[in-house]
Amino acid sequence: MSIKWFKLADTMSAIEWQANDMCIVELNGKEISLAKRGEAIFAFAHKCPHAGGILADGCIKANGTVECPLHRYQFNLSNGRNTSGEGYYLKTYPVEMREDGIYIGFEEKSWFSRL
Ligand code: FES
Repeated sequence: MSIKWFKLADTMSAIEWQANDMCIVELNGKEISLAKRGEAIFAFAHKCPHAGGILADGCIKANGTVECPLHRYQFNLSNGRNTSGEGYYLKTYPVEMREDGIYIGFEEKSWFSRL
């Protein structure tokens, strides 16, 4: 499996963040959520894996998790682990801060990976 990188923005301040330090962007034909904590950006699925809550409408907790606004399940921003214990997994995307901008990685399935 290889990763294809898409440029998100030149700088962190070029992104239109909501007051809760999250937002939704469209990249590679997909809507994804972004969250910022300090100088770090995290990218993850648009919708909650439980019942489709819009995660960017939730909040970022002090312990580094995102809390879904619908039923308050929490997910680790780095690895998608469901830290509130319900057994779900949030899809996350790798983020790279490069000299020429911020990039998000998407897994590319090769023909061979389907065998
Ligand atoms: S939809 Fe997110 S916790 Fe239920």
